[in-house]
Amino acid sequence: MSGTITRNHSRFILGILLLMLLWLVGCATEATPSVFEPQSLAADRIATLWWFLFGLGSVIYLVVMGIMLYALFRRRGDAAADGRWRLHGRRMILFGGALIPAVILLVIYGFTLSTLSALSSTNTEDRLTIAMTGHQWWWEVQYPSEQITTANEIHIPVGEPVNIRLESDDVIHSFWVPELNGKLDLMPGTTNVLQLQADQPGEYWGLCAEFCGIQHAKMLFVVVAHPADEFSAWLEAQRQPAPEPATELTQTGFNVFMEAGCAQCHVISGTSATGELGPDLTHFAGRLTLGAGTAPNNRGNLSGWIVDSHGLKPGNLMPSSELSGPQLQALLAYMETLQ
Ligand code: CUA
Repeated sequence: MSGTITRNHSRFILGILLLMLLWLVGCATEATPSVFEPQSLAADRIATLWWFLFGLGSVIYLVVMGIMLYALFRRRGDAAADGRWRLHGRRMILFGGALIPAVILLVIYGFTLSTLSALSSTNTEDRLTIAMTGHQWWWEVQYPSEQITTANEIHIPVGEPVNIRLESDDVIHSFWVPELNGKLDLMPGTTNVLQLQADQPGEYWGLCAEFCGIQHAKMLFVVVAHPADEFSAWLEAQRQPAPEPATELTQTGFNVFMEAGCAQCHVISGTSATGELGPDLTHFAGRLTLGAGTAPNNRGNLSGWIVDSHGLKPGNLMPSSELSGPQLQALLAYMETLQ
């Protein structure tokens, strides 16, 4: 009977472990970037430090556990041997308890300092600067030298360091692109500057790494690294105002946008929509996600977002709208022209 229970117990524990493993496998989606896949020199230094600390910690753990097991299971009772061990014990406290830990901590301190100094920026004045402002719960992105404003997406030239200037409009947020660099906070009333560089073209997910309220988990962004010519083309396209509505349907959509209250919170450059509470929508259709990484930017999701954004991201500031079917279709058609 007790044998059955034990077998059932071990099956139960095995089941739990397998489930936990599946859970971990489930974490490996594209929006969960990893510090173990560094794509820049800075991220590479951070990953090396991480592996060094992990390796050192593992060795120390194994040695301490080994000594503990030895102490537990060694033979006792021999008075002479016990005397020798007492002597060993004093030495053990001196070396194992003070000297060796001091050396290990010094080595860790040195390695960490050298990594930090390698990450700190020098000579950054002439670089492209991108200003990020954290809002609950999205990222405002500006290129001051280019007069460009966008949201939840930064585009950078590949292989070139850029400065990211970080500020907050409300509470403390934290900027983190694990594959490219470490974290840096966005503090109200202060400006922090982080260097970002991507060695390969591609999309790199970033996230808010400081709890900032109910939708902290849905405060994502994407860094898109382009080859130089592609990046210039992107800048040029972003400098343009939004295209005028070219069809009757998109004109109706534009009218809906202006009359349903959207224009009170959003800018569409080249039009009289100049609200500044929410993200600039001038080139919204070219963005990868909506709601700061909440969902892929496509017609279905946008439709759901306009009608009931709180269904997708409870607590966000965008009010639900009560548009008729034809109004919604026209608005969607207009939004899709904002390339
Ligand atoms: Cu912003 Cu967490």
